[in-house]
Amino acid sequence: MQDFEGKTAVITGGASGIGFGLAGKCAELRMNVVIADIQQDARDAAVAALEERQAQVIGVDVNTMVKESIDNLLEESVAAFGNVHLLFNNAGVASMQGGKAVWEVPNSDWQWVMGVNFDGVLYGLQTFVPHMLEHGEASHIVNTASLAALMPSGGNYGVSKHAVFALTESLQRDLETRGANIGASVLCPGFVQTNIFDAERNRPEELSDSKPAPEITAQMAQMTKGMLEAGKAPSEVAEIVLDSIREDRFYILPHPAWDEIVEGRLRQVLARGPVASISPEVMMRKREAGEQL
Ligand SMILES: NC(=O)c1ccc[n+]([C@@H]2O[C@H](COP(=O)([O-])OP(=O)(O)OC[C@H]3O[C@@H](n4cnc5c(N)ncnc54)[C@H](O)[C@@H]3O)[C@@H](O)[C@H]2O)c1
Repeated sequence: MQDFEGKTAVITGGASGIGFGLAGKCAELRMNVVIADIQQDARDAAVAALEERQAQVIGVDVNTMVKESIDNLLEESVAAFGNVHLLFNNAGVASMQGGKAVWEVPNSDWQWVMGVNFDGVLYGLQTFVPHMLEHGEASHIVNTASLAALMPSGGNYGVSKHAVFALTESLQRDLETRGANIGASVLCPGFVQTNIFDAERNRPEELSDSKPAPEITAQMAQMTKGMLEAGKAPSEVAEIVLDSIREDRFYILPHPAWDEIVEGRLRQVLARGPVASISPEVMMRKREAGEQL
């Protein structure tokens, strides 16, 4: 996809962080923007901020865990702007279970993390790909995974992101096989300065039995604060994503500081060795050298 002006972008999780960075970039390119998000106050603020920049923008209340909600998102987007050309399946959550092993994490937590991070992306494809195939104009889909998709461990978050990564590789192959006028990319960021570690704010009430104790959440937030601060700004990631769409690049890895670790994991797999560990020394060295994590 090369031309953006006057086309329509739909962004799940568009009210905050990377999603809002993408929304800003799309507005700058004079696209129509649909901010699809579950959090009303953030959604309203995001829409107002873009309107101030004279953007064509609407907000849609969406819960990506629910297929009907994604179907409604397509309907509202088409009603406002006509055909959709750019879909960012970006909404995501991280759960801080404070040292619980994978078999100890409650099912309701698995349901939430897999529901938003994986099912939401799958529903996005099930709803929007047929629409894009039908209108036939140049389109592109970006699924937000994470570097967690290329590294070992990461608990249920890591599992959900490995799944998004695999799904998007299959998507790309299937689109190519069908000769579709739709590009695909998988976005795998390292740390980005967003509100991801406060994801609890959007945990559904019916899955709240696995909500971690406030002291665990506070402890984890403290631990991860420094890492996020050493990360990239959402606007910088958004710039890289839009350039990658223009270049039809499939793998989008905006954080080269992690390449060495990703490579180490793959080497460990091919060596039939034990699970690779992410070396804190390497990351510390990179941080001291001022590299963005
Ligand atoms: N921040 C990072 O360091 C980082 C790194 C790698 C990948 N990611 C991924 O980037 C994506 C965006 O996260 P972010 O870091 O910008 O976090 P964020 O919390 O700032 O933004 C996430 C947005 O998703 C929305 N959301 C949450 N649950 C939803 C649901 N059920 N339906 C609709 N919207 C929902 C939130 O309201 C929020 O606006 C996620 O998929 C995340 O896993 C983030």
